[in-house]
Amino acid sequence: MCHNRLKPRSVFLIGFGIGFFLALLLLLAQNLHYAYHRTPGHSSRNNLLGWFLSSTNTETLFQTWKQSDNTTYNELLKDKGLKSRELDLDSYLYGPKSETELEADWLKSQVDITCVVFVKKIKLAKAIRDTWGKRCNRIYFFGRKKDSDVPVISFDVKLTSSWQLLCEAFTYIWRDKPRLQWLLFVKDETLVIPENLRYMLAPLNHTQDYYLGHAVVLWGQAYNVADAGYVISAPVLRKLIKKFDSSEKCLVGGKYWKQEDYYLAKHLASMGIHPSDTRDQYLRGTFHGYSLQSLLWGVVKTGVYWNRALYPIEKECCSFTSITFNVAEPDKMRTFNYLLYHFHVLNMKAAFGRKQAARIVPEEDVWKIALKDEFNITYLQDISSDAYYKIWHAKYSEPEQLINMNYRSKDNN
Ligand SMILES: *[C@@H]1O[C@H](CO)[C@@H](O)[C@H](O)[C@H]1NC(C)=O
Ligand SMILES: *[C@@H]1O[C@H](CO)[C@@H](O)[C@H](O)[C@H]1NC(C)=O
Ligand SMILES: *[C@@H]1O[C@H](CO)[C@@H](O)[C@H](O)[C@H]1NC(C)=O
Repeated sequence: MCHNRLKPRSVFLIGFGIGFFLALLLLLAQNLHYAYHRTPGHSSRNNLLGWFLSSTNTETLFQTWKQSDNTTYNELLKDKGLKSRELDLDSYLYGPKSETELEADWLKSQVDITCVVFVKKIKLAKAIRDTWGKRCNRIYFFGRKKDSDVPVISFDVKLTSSWQLLCEAFTYIWRDKPRLQWLLFVKDETLVIPENLRYMLAPLNHTQDYYLGHAVVLWGQAYNVADAGYVISAPVLRKLIKKFDSSEKCLVGGKYWKQEDYYLAKHLASMGIHPSDTRDQYLRGTFHGYSLQSLLWGVVKTGVYWNRALYPIEKECCSFTSITFNVAEPDKMRTFNYLLYHFHVLNMKAAFGRKQAARIVPEEDVWKIALKDEFNITYLQDISSDAYYKIWHAKYSEPEQLINMNYRSKDNN
């Protein structure tokens, strides 16, 4: 049992959103000047900036937690007898090597995520494999294109709908790895931040039914849209497998290409499983079917995604603990990964060089150091220059004597 192994130990809070926020800051940096010199609240852009600049340090609370056990992440840690504490990222990254376990690493061992990617472009699959794919506990690629480099799994049966592909993928994963906790399904045009997903999932009981994502209501059916990615817990997969236990059943489960997310919700609803609310306490979204750039500056919020949202997004754009975004080009995916996980800005936390710079010691300070060495005087702050003189003159008649004796003699030997 994992509880036994979990003897109380420190888990360190790195702040899941740090990387994400850093990227946001980069995007915002060029606009800050603008924001500070205008009265806030005029345009929506100013509102947005005001929003970003506020409440960055508070704990993120998800609506999903309320709907289940009503346990927050911090309460969960407390219940397990664990204590996290803030880490000085500068010394963690650039100081002496330490044995510190980061909270994100601890979570990876606790909250098991199986990532499932539906591939249209091999280049995107490669970018995912090289970037966020590594942060899943395991990853599967499904699609119709074969590649020698990325192991894209395809099926022998003739596929007539995207639901059928999804359904066959369920069966494949079930047979390959029956003991799972959570499954995340995304298209290849998606950037995932698994660390943030684990934070959301940690307080939830993976032996119960969950269906998480960005839910909209269409033709009376609430479903999590595939563009934003969605998550199910293992028992949900088990129920699906029970219902669709053959390729024939998969075939008749959905008719049209492209509506697999809708069909999935329909089948789940028939089993009493419905989408949960994945917004944070400010009612900002976490699963996004749009690019960050359009969410921040461009998107016209008129589509079904917005006006049929089951849990409407109240504030502009995104939770600081967001989980998915749309990124449609492989090089952008790699750039985002670099910004989120590797990029440092010199004036920010955990940036290389955020130490006091080395400087030349002024001549009078050299004398202070000499006095300390010579006379063991440490209360140097209060001593006048006259007093300095008297102290060393009591011992040495001329300054040269001291210098020659103590600081030059070794060189002359
Ligand atoms: C959840 O917790 C909050 C605050 O701790 C409380 O106000 C609320 O009533 C709780 N809801 C349920 C369903 O227990
Ligand atoms: C999780 O849910 C199951 C029932 O589905 C229950 O038996 C178990 O005690 C729960 N675990 C926790 C940690 O609450
Ligand atoms: C220097 O002074 C401190 C107290 O001010 C004393 O504890 C220490 O032993 C002294 N060191 C030497 C080398 O005299």
